[in-house]
Amino acid sequence: MKRREFVNFVGLGCIATSLPVAIAACTPAETTADSTADSPDAAPADVPAADVTAESMDSSVREDGFAALGTVSELDSAGFLASQTFVAGPVIVVRDPANAEDIVALNSICTHKGCSVDWADTEFTCACHGSTFSVDGTATNGPATEPLSSYEAKIDGDWVLVKAV
Ligand code: FES
Repeated sequence: MKRREFVNFVGLGCIATSLPVAIAACTPAETTADSTADSPDAAPADVPAADVTAESMDSSVREDGFAALGTVSELDSAGFLASQTFVAGPVIVVRDPANAEDIVALNSICTHKGCSVDWADTEFTCACHGSTFSVDGTATNGPATEPLSSYEAKIDGDWVLVKAV
């Protein structure tokens, strides 16, 4: 092989081997993390509890530390009130099935891997991996083992109030 042929052969080899690297370097990075913070192996898509709040409601924190989440009529109509953006954190409020006069407010983030729980008439369910929680937040079926944390909540007139601070 002549010198010129050898140099051309080596030069072509360098280009051929470095081209895929150069293309990969110019390609935008692939996102592997699930931006919803839900488990990547979650079977169904996370269906967060809908924000069910009055549009004209004053949700600012009152002097007593409570903030309005919605109205009683909205709670009774939908069966729950929920907000992912409540000032104290994600919250879901339901009437206590054992005593309809009482309301229960829990953090709506599943303690397993962070999906939102939904209310299913008598218990909270997480669609991601099937965990269930009793109305007081106790994990009743795994994989979640830790309870949902609770908020203080009350009804004041037609307002459903949740302790915000
Ligand atoms: Fe896994 Fe809720 S995130 S059961």
